[in-house]
Amino acid sequence: MEFFVDTASITEIRTAQSWGILDGVTTNPTHVAREGRDHKELIQEICAICPGPVSVETTVADAEGMIGEGETFATWAPNVVVKVPVTPEGIRALRALRAKDIRCNVTLVFSLPQALIAAKAGAAYVSPFVGRLDDNGADGIQLVRDICAAYRHYGFETRVLAASLRHPVHVVHAALAGAHVATMPFKVMEQLFNHPLTAIGLEKFLADARALQAALETRRAPV
Ligand code: E4P
Repeated sequence: MEFFVDTASITEIRTAQSWGILDGVTTNPTHVAREGRDHKELIQEICAICPGPVSVETTVADAEGMIGEGETFATWAPNVVVKVPVTPEGIRALRALRAKDIRCNVTLVFSLPQALIAAKAGAAYVSPFVGRLDDNGADGIQLVRDICAAYRHYGFETRVLAASLRHPVHVVHAALAGAHVATMPFKVMEQLFNHPLTAIGLEKFLADARALQAALETRRAPV
């Protein structure tokens, strides 16, 4: 499973990249607005830090506008993937961008029919929003499972990118459901390291190593 970080924070992306487990980045207009910087400059800096796919979302609702933005985003860095919503306009834009070899991530996906549309149109990625479905009393992970099953059935090559993940259990369930990618907030990626037994075990190993070192130094000390 690939791990993407869902943020536009340079500090967070740099840190995740330094761990050596970062496969890509997803941004959205909310993340970008939070940074308060020029969009192009920000995305180019992100793309230079993370060589994997970096999703950049369009900010208009009409196909022509999305095509124009998508073409511009694609000139910013070779690893840009254009994010378009699963609307008729978004899918029209995807077709046009795809014809120019620009990869697209279809976002705001909340149902299997929407995911089938994305795959049929030739999306590189489809982003089912797990957390937002859960927030509304639906089962987000079941949607990921259903999309993976349907895509396998027809041999679609669109990669399933489980999005809107809120905690490590979402990542675990997305992996078991067969998602190709999990995109998660930095905090969740950090939490993936955590296990109390790791912390307890490490503390004991370090204490034992320190005790041995102290004993050896005492033995070596001149009398
Ligand atoms: C995905 O690409 C979106 O940016 C993101 O996962 C949305 O997550 P949220 O529901 O936590 O805002």
